[in-house]
Amino acid sequence: MPRNAPVEVRRMAVAARPMAGDEEAAPSYRVRLEVNGKPYDAEVEGRTLLVHFLREDLRLTGTHIGCDTTNCGACTILLDGRPVKSCTILAVQADGRAIRTVEGLGSDGKLHPVQDGFIEEHGLQCGFCTPGMMMTAVALLEKHPNPTEPQIRRAISGNLCRCTGYVNIVKAVEHAAQTMRGPKAGGKA
Ligand code: FES
Ligand code: FES
Repeated sequence: MPRNAPVEVRRMAVAARPMAGDEEAAPSYRVRLEVNGKPYDAEVEGRTLLVHFLREDLRLTGTHIGCDTTNCGACTILLDGRPVKSCTILAVQADGRAIRTVEGLGSDGKLHPVQDGFIEEHGLQCGFCTPGMMMTAVALLEKHPNPTEPQIRRAISGNLCRCTGYVNIVKAVEHAAQTMRGPKAGGKA
C-alpha cells in the first residue's frame, strides 16, 4: 500500500448497529477524512455520531463520552482546527475534514506543551475530562498565544470539571502558553 493511502474502515460503529427488532439497517455513507494526519476511507451509518466513529471504528478512545448531550465537553476534538463536541455532530458531517484528537497531540515521542502543562501544574485531576480540556486549550493557544486568565476561563467554559475546580487547569493552560511562546518572547525555555 502506498505510504499515504487511506486506511479503509468498513466496520460500522457498534453504537449505530440496528437494534433488535429494527426492520431495516440505516443507510450507510462513504466518508473520507483525515484524523491526526492520517487519511481514512470509511463507511458509516448516517446516524453514527462522530465520537462513536472515533472511539469504536478507529479505536481512538482518548476522546471520552461524559454525557452525550453536548454538556460536558469530554468529547471535544478539533475539526479543521476548531474545538467541536464530537457527540454533537455526525460522522458524515466530518467528510472531507481534518480532525485532531488527543492521540495526535504529541510528536516524535514528545508531549505537546499543553500535555506538559497539565502534568506540571497538576491539571490532570480526574483524567476523564482532561483530553477534551486539552483539545480546547490547544485551539485557544493556536489562536491566542498569550491569553489572559478570563480568556482561558471563557475558552474552557464548555468543558466541565465536576470534581475539583478550574484553578490548576487554568494554571496548566498558562504554563503551556508560556512554553509555546518560547524564551525569546518571555516564555519558558
Ligand atoms: Fe459530548 Fe459530553 S460527551 S459534551
Ligand atoms: Fe476532570 Fe475535574 S478535573 S472533572
